[in-house]
Amino acid sequence: MNKKAAHPLHYAVRLWFIVICLGQSIFAYYILMQYYRNTALGDLEKWNNVNPHFYDKSDLTGNIIFGLHVALAAVITILGPLQLVPSLRARVPRFHRISGRVYIASAFLVSVAGIYLTWVRGAVGGPVMQVMISANAAIILICAYFAIRSAMERRFKVHQQWAVHLFLGMSGVWMFRVFLMLWLLIHRAPVGFDPKTFTGPFLTVLAVSVYIMPQAIAAWYFGVRGSGPAYQRTVFATFLTLVSLGMAVGSFAATMGMWMPRVME
Ligand code: HEM
Repeated sequence: MNKKAAHPLHYAVRLWFIVICLGQSIFAYYILMQYYRNTALGDLEKWNNVNPHFYDKSDLTGNIIFGLHVALAAVITILGPLQLVPSLRARVPRFHRISGRVYIASAFLVSVAGIYLTWVRGAVGGPVMQVMISANAAIILICAYFAIRSAMERRFKVHQQWAVHLFLGMSGVWMFRVFLMLWLLIHRAPVGFDPKTFTGPFLTVLAVSVYIMPQAIAAWYFGVRGSGPAYQRTVFATFLTLVSLGMAVGSFAATMGMWMPRVME
């Protein structure tokens, strides 16, 4: 890559990654405290601090699948960013390979468990949100398949691209919470959706933006990062910097307004 031309993009990508690492660490901490800790203490009723149907005494299968889903959610949220750190891949390739297998297996399981929770147990948000989150699951399954296949075929450039697509798919749920909280922070009210039914145009736009659009944005990045006119890299860098700032503020809002209050309960 031309170092001089890549300058703004170089810093924008690093800023984005630092924000993601910090924001997802807090999300992982929340999952550990809210689900691992309460489960270890035998306090399963506390799952319902978040939503009254997460622990349902009359639905053993649903409880197990939900428990599996959130258990893997923490694994994914911790391992995902680590897989993308170049120095870790270079210095401890064995860690990258083992953790990569765990990550891919978790991707399959979390998505299948998520599909069960969405369609069998029933999630908040109605049919539109059900279809949206299922699209996210499909994206994860496809990217996980191609990421592992290209790694096994030792096509590492292709593998790297699929891995980034997979990471973005896996980060969709985190981004949904972060940008929802950013929106609520800006408007100080649930504008564009009904908080009781969790339906409305804003949520549809948000779901498309965090579950589907990042795939196109990643393709855009791979298109401009090494070739094409320098101004395209500057446009992308500006866009990514704005997204990162939104993510940083949204992460702060999600931490203070959603995750910490639940963990403190
Ligand atoms: C891949 C990364 C994912 C992570 C990190 C993740 C994380 C979580 C967490 C932490 C919860 C508990 C709610 C909370 O405390 O905020 C949850 C619930 C849930 N997740 Fe996931 N999830 C992921 C993917 C998916 C996918 C792909 C689907 C659907 C196909 C899905 C469907 C659900 C459903 C239905 C619930 C219950 C929420 C409800 O009933 O409204 N998740 N997830």
